[in-house]
Amino acid sequence: MDKFFGNLHLVLLTGLVAAIALIAYLGPDQALLLNYVLRWLHVFFGIVWIGLLYYFNFVQIPTMPSVPAELKPGVSKYIAPNALFFFRWGAAFTVLTGLAVAYITGYLHQAMVLQADYRLIGIGMWLALIMAFNVWFVIWPNQKKALGLVEADADTKAKAAKTAMIFSRINTLLSIPMLYAMTNANLG
Ligand code: HEM
Repeated sequence: MDKFFGNLHLVLLTGLVAAIALIAYLGPDQALLLNYVLRWLHVFFGIVWIGLLYYFNFVQIPTMPSVPAELKPGVSKYIAPNALFFFRWGAAFTVLTGLAVAYITGYLHQAMVLQADYRLIGIGMWLALIMAFNVWFVIWPNQKKALGLVEADADTKAKAAKTAMIFSRINTLLSIPMLYAMTNANLG
């Protein structure tokens, strides 16, 4: 038992097998199978991304000031770089699967131009696209400097940390209406 639950890869694989068994048992419409699978993967990657965004904003950023100086590298050198890896790739795969869902459901263009019946999902997609842009082109490059993953002097590091924090907060703000749009779009 300890061995099983101590092995994250095995636990994830078992979750995957359970999901495949569920798909096989309920036998969804074959024509819609890809759509079902993409929606499921989309929400999985969305949770990885937004879960880590909330970890940074609800836990790491507010707690860091009270962490003793000698313990801070434990977070900045070990935990944060690892969390940022899953954070930015979670964002990339959420975008990819989200756009794929819209495309194969047949309304990608209508949603992107905010056409009448697709306004809610379109707004959600634009909000999430802005958030993903912030992750890859603002937060990650600034975090690389702030965490010392690339060379930067102390002043640049401090500025980069502030910029990363502000854009992380912007994403937290945008995530709230974005989630409303994502979860209610299929009601019309
Ligand atoms: C650029 C990024 C994103 C795009 C392009 C996108 C696109 C979409 C699309 C097209 C749908 C299907 C709506 C429908 O037809 O009912 C959807 C549903 C959904 N999305 Fe996203 N999304 C993005 C980001 C996110 C994020 C960050 C989350 C966070 C968890 C998320 C969570 C959901 C959920 C829970 C659903 C409902 C699934 C369903 O009811 O089938 N999405 N998204």
